[in-house]
Amino acid sequence: MIDIQNVTKVYTTKKKQTVAVDNVSLTIRDGEIFGIIGYSGAGKSTLLRCLNALERPTSGRILIDGIDVTALDAKELRQVRQKIGMIFQHFSLVSSKTVFKNITFALKAAKKPKPDIEKRVNELLDMVGLSDKRDAYPAQLSGGQKQRVGIARALANNPTVLLCDEATSALDPSTTKSILELLKKINRELGITIVFITHEMEVVKHICDRVAVMQNGKVIELGTVYELFTHPKEELTRSFVHSVMHVDLPAHLRETHTGTIVKIQFEGKSATETIVSDMLQQFEVKGNILHAKIEYIQDKPLGIFVMELIGKEDEIQRAMDYIAKRTNRLEVVSHAA
Ligand SMILES: Nc1ncnc2c1ncn2[C@@H]1O[C@H](COP(=O)(O)OP(=O)(O)O)[C@@H](O)[C@H]1O
Ligand SMILES: [Mg+2]
Repeated sequence: MIDIQNVTKVYTTKKKQTVAVDNVSLTIRDGEIFGIIGYSGAGKSTLLRCLNALERPTSGRILIDGIDVTALDAKELRQVRQKIGMIFQHFSLVSSKTVFKNITFALKAAKKPKPDIEKRVNELLDMVGLSDKRDAYPAQLSGGQKQRVGIARALANNPTVLLCDEATSALDPSTTKSILELLKKINRELGITIVFITHEMEVVKHICDRVAVMQNGKVIELGTVYELFTHPKEELTRSFVHSVMHVDLPAHLRETHTGTIVKIQFEGKSATETIVSDMLQQFEVKGNILHAKIEYIQDKPLGIFVMELIGKEDEIQRAMDYIAKRTNRLEVVSHAA
């Protein structure tokens, strides 16, 4: 378990003081994939670097499996760091060394005998699907392959925690997906706790169990990914959710409609189609589906329907009340023209 207690990090330069992390407290459970999302400058990387003591908090404590990493001497730190792997946005591979050498580097630092190193690297390459690239140089690899090497290197010493700093931000969407799948597999099969920082809600949706939203050094919202997607409280969280869940109507539809346009949110198992068809039977309104989207988040459906309701004003109102009672949210996008 990672227990972050009232951590603050202030950078002091000649000109100014920056509060990069501002009194953050979080508990990250063993075996979970924990996301930290925020825009650039929010303090995510600083917080992550405090976890493996690359950075020392100005105040506060961080306990990893009960060990206070903010109070260790150099030797103890080296031992603790072996239990914490890290991967980066730009992979941080040594360009003059082969894939094999890049990975052995971490093992050599841990003073392992040579045959053990050989065996372990082959295991790692197999795990990340790069056995055939053992003797290639980083320049000969695609971005996704480079990150696979980064992951193999980070896992070399059997860490219990893997820290990922924007690990997919330099990759295209389909490579991102394959790297996220690999990280999920590693989490499931090896039970490694993953802390994933990102500015992309799509990534959070795909991989995380819980997520903290950071802004100006503070954690402003925290919950399961499904909770944040269905009931975001803060403005920033809403805008992150919107980046995945937006259903924007083409302008001409908004301008030419005659009825009332409503947006309906369905969560979990609420039977979308039945509610809508029951509504159309019970009330004297006609319904036009203009847009619909269902996302599966942590394997649970979250749907958004945009419908135009045509009929008498009071019938539309009753139809909307009917739907609002049976779904999670109904919002009027625009009234009858
Ligand atoms: N080594 C440093 N020295 C001074 N200021 C820093 C340093 N590292 C980060 N900062 C500042 O701390 C704030 C948070 O940065 P960072 O943790 O990198 O945010 P994020 O990873 O969310 O983009 C920013 O204002 C940044 O300029
Ligand atoms: Mg960063």
